Amino acid sequence: MNKVRVAVLGYGHLGKWHCQKVEAHSDVAEFVAIVEKFPAGQEAAKANHPNVKVVSDIKEVINDIDAAFIVTPTSTHFELVSYLLEQKKHVFCEKPVCSNDAEGLKLKEIAATKNVVIQVGHSERFHEAWEKLRDTFQNLPTPYTVRINRVAPFKGRATDVDVVQDLAIHDLDLVLYLFKQKPKSISATGYKIRTTKWDHASINVKLEEDCEALITVGRNATREVRDLEVISQMGMLSVDLFSNKIFIATNSQFGDGTFVSEESYNKRDHLLLEHKNFYKSIQEKSSPLVNLKDGLNAVHLVDCTLKALETKKSEMVKSFE
Ligand SMILES: NC(=O)c1ccc[n+]([C@@H]2O[C@H](COP(=O)([O-])OP(=O)(O)OC[C@H]3O[C@@H](n4cnc5c(N)ncnc54)[C@H](O)[C@@H]3O)[C@@H](O)[C@H]2O)c1
Repeated sequence: MNKVRVAVLGYGHLGKWHCQKVEAHSDVAEFVAIVEKFPAGQEAAKANHPNVKVVSDIKEVINDIDAAFIVTPTSTHFELVSYLLEQKKHVFCEKPVCSNDAEGLKLKEIAATKNVVIQVGHSERFHEAWEKLRDTFQNLPTPYTVRINRVAPFKGRATDVDVVQDLAIHDLDLVLYLFKQKPKSISATGYKIRTTKWDHASINVKLEEDCEALITVGRNATREVRDLEVISQMGMLSVDLFSNKIFIATNSQFGDGTFVSEESYNKRDHLLLEHKNFYKSIQEKSSPLVNLKDGLNAVHLVDCTLKALETKKSEMVKSFE
């Protein structure tokens, strides 16, 4: 099979890592071009990848590629994804795949007739923990409460978007992916602390069968926390996504006399796994782990959350199959 001819769009913070992963897949991918709009990024790209063509506009290399990784700011995603789909190219787009539901509808229409792979960069789906726990989560007795925290001190990145589009989108997608009960409505409280956009948000997602997911995201926190907890009549299960540990407290004592079990899981290179999944989907003409529908569902939940933050009212969520 011919190698997939690839371009990476955007040579910023994350684009650099995507370029590294393209190079790590030289058995299946041919690294044709880096598309970076601004001179400083172009110079850095040339210095680090002397054998790769560096251009400022995707149109300059569109006939030389089969697939593209979009790693540009969120506000550019809709236009770039639309263009690449129209040109019948396979697309990997970093999250969010577009900025709102209205754009999502148009992408769905364009994608319907193109027969190409579209993958969205919801990298948080690639934790090894979910391979161990998803079945348990899918079969939890209802009701249950999920609590997800993703907060960190200010780093000055991604301030072109708010914390809902930047961070909560990962957790809203995880709720859809990991749990059987689907969202019914969303209410939220937020704060604009350092920027003119939401810097902190507490999101309450009402799920079917009296379940709920409480998501806290923030980029101006006092410390870094990334964890997920599930509480039900079975007890509590928590995953520390930093230390890569799973803790379980059930309604009885463990055989060794303790009340809390602790298990480690492997830290993995999520970006590398996303790239592998993309090439495999192209070769096998199969759906990637995170497809366009998943990306658009997450965008819908972001849209609902942003409306709830503005109106301070609960927002109804569309139904999910
Ligand atoms: N999956 C994750 O966990 C994760 C983590 C970080 C960032 N992201 C996503 O990745 C995307 C990029 O984030 P970042 O932190 O790398 O941003 P960044 O600002 O560091 O880099 C973006 C780069 O794109 C370039 N650019 C802008 N418009 C362009 C265009 N039309 N064509 C080519 N280049 C263009 C900019 O000059 C810049 O170099 C965002 O959508 C963000 O949400 C995802």
